[in-house]
Amino acid sequence: MKFFIDTANLAEIKEAQAMGILDGVTTNPSLMAKEGISGKDNIFRHYKAICDIVDGDVSAEVIATDYEGMIREGEELVTIDEKIVVKIPMIKDGIKAIKYFSNKGIRTNCTLVFSAGQALLAAKAGASYVSPFIGRLDDISVDGMDLIAQIVLIYANYGYETEVLAASIRGPIHIIKCAELGADVMTGPLSAITALLKHPLTDSGLEKFLADHKKVNG
Ligand code: G3P
Repeated sequence: MKFFIDTANLAEIKEAQAMGILDGVTTNPSLMAKEGISGKDNIFRHYKAICDIVDGDVSAEVIATDYEGMIREGEELVTIDEKIVVKIPMIKDGIKAIKYFSNKGIRTNCTLVFSAGQALLAAKAGASYVSPFIGRLDDISVDGMDLIAQIVLIYANYGYETEVLAASIRGPIHIIKCAELGADVMTGPLSAITALLKHPLTDSGLEKFLADHKKVNG
């Protein structure tokens, strides 16, 4: 399972990269705004800074919602770095844009996916990644994991190569359940990733090992 971090915060990206388990980064306009990054030049520079930290794919989202605008933006975004994957919203023009990029060999991440039908369309258009939003479904009392299971099954039925990128991950249980279901990738905050480290028996066990060592070694 690939681990992506869902942030535009350079310090968090560096911390995850330093752990040696980071496979990529996803961003969105809200996450860029949260870091106070504005203006095309600054935004592009920030994407480049992210690409320079990580070894894997970096999703950069278009702002345009019309076909021509998405093509224009996407073609500019991929000039930043070869790690850039163009993130495109699940709308009709978005599907057309994904198909266009797929034909040109430009990788895409279809975002804001909340149903199996949407995921099927993204795969048919040739998206490299599909991003079902687990947490936001859970927020409205719909089990996001059911959607992951459906998409994994449908893609397996037809051999679609689109990778299932479980997004809107909120905590460690989401990550574990997605891994059980066979999601190819998860993207979440650093806190969800580091929460996987924690177990009270690990802490108490380590404490005892060190105390026993100290008894005889001083
Ligand atoms: O990047 C898309 C997605 O992961 C957003 O997550 O927590 O804002 O629902 P969240």
